[in-house]
Amino acid sequence: MMAQTELEKKILKYSSEILSQQIKWRRYLHQYPEISNEEFETTKYLISEIKKLSLKVKTNNQPTGFTTEIIGDVKGPLVAVRTDIDALPILEQTNLAFQSKNKGCMHACGHDMHMATILGVVSVLRKLKSELNGSVRFLFQPSEEMPPGGAIPMIENGVLDSVQMIFGLHVDPHLKTGKIGLRDGVTMGSVTDFDLVIRGRAGHAARPHHTVDAIATAAEVIESLQKIVSREVDPIDPVVITFGQISGGYARNVICDKVHLVGTIRTLSPQASREVPKKVKRIAQAICKARGATVEMKIKGEYPVLVNDADTNNIIRENYGSLFGKKYIEETAQVLGGEDFACYLEQTKGAMFRLGVMNKKIKADKPWHSPKFIVDEQALHYGTAVIVASVIDAINKLSK
Ligand code: NI
Repeated sequence: MMAQTELEKKILKYSSEILSQQIKWRRYLHQYPEISNEEFETTKYLISEIKKLSLKVKTNNQPTGFTTEIIGDVKGPLVAVRTDIDALPILEQTNLAFQSKNKGCMHACGHDMHMATILGVVSVLRKLKSELNGSVRFLFQPSEEMPPGGAIPMIENGVLDSVQMIFGLHVDPHLKTGKIGLRDGVTMGSVTDFDLVIRGRAGHAARPHHTVDAIATAAEVIESLQKIVSREVDPIDPVVITFGQISGGYARNVICDKVHLVGTIRTLSPQASREVPKKVKRIAQAICKARGATVEMKIKGEYPVLVNDADTNNIIRENYGSLFGKKYIEETAQVLGGEDFACYLEQTKGAMFRLGVMNKKIKADKPWHSPKFIVDEQALHYGTAVIVASVIDAINKLSK
């Protein structure tokens, strides 16, 4: 048995006591998911639950999402905890008893778990207010899934004012329940979502010489852009350019005059994230010009590279180790997936850790964004306890 302090024993006890309520919160939220920037009912529900805990909320001039605070009796540092609140346009296929009732929308990234964890953290920290030598602000952030994302408007509305450290979590279906994953420094990729609209001149399929074929030109553009990855960036510096959608054309016998490409660029370095979009534009323009077509590039949204602060991670490591054992902490690999939590980390110290939710016995082993995504709800306990302990500890360390 680990040597736990009285405070840690209390944290574990209160986190266990809140678990059944957290499962209720999570299942309710899971049944009523809403897509990015449309989290109206989710926001209403969360606010009503927060008000039951006699806390005030601030909407920060935003239609969805809000913040709330636990103000300690002692004047001291302010730290923040963030959860995202949006779901995805996916038709759920889990057959769970509490499966989504909003057809075609699903919490397939676990943001329902994040919300239930943070509601639990709020309730436990309220009981432990006497241990808080400062204050905690909770950010319920909309639109994580859709760049430009909900973090930037929240920051512009002042949610980080006076915040000295921020904590975030993300469930991980590749990590067993009971484990957490961390990494110092660059951890997740930058995102540049962009559209290309290629315009040519339409005409008869059998008379190509009177037209500019937008489809043939688009094919050349798509092919050539992959050479940015292999020929124009440092091979040590990973870059992904993906087109997830392409549309255009009218009929078999009509040459198409307009193609719409929907793409995303991912990188792990700020330099590559600045340079690659410029290269995409240069190459697309040059090919289109050579073929007599034109192209317009529109940036739809950007997330920076996510860089975790080592001091914040160390607080999470120490507390998790002490509560549950160091052997349950894993060093996570870098990924090119993006996350707008990165925007907060550009402004203040902080870190996002991964919460293991994998449990093969209950089929909780499908990847994020799968229509069969299932999580192990027992993970709520581990997430809640470590955030509560880390927040209390962070405030103490920042006070020194
Ligand atoms: Ni997510």
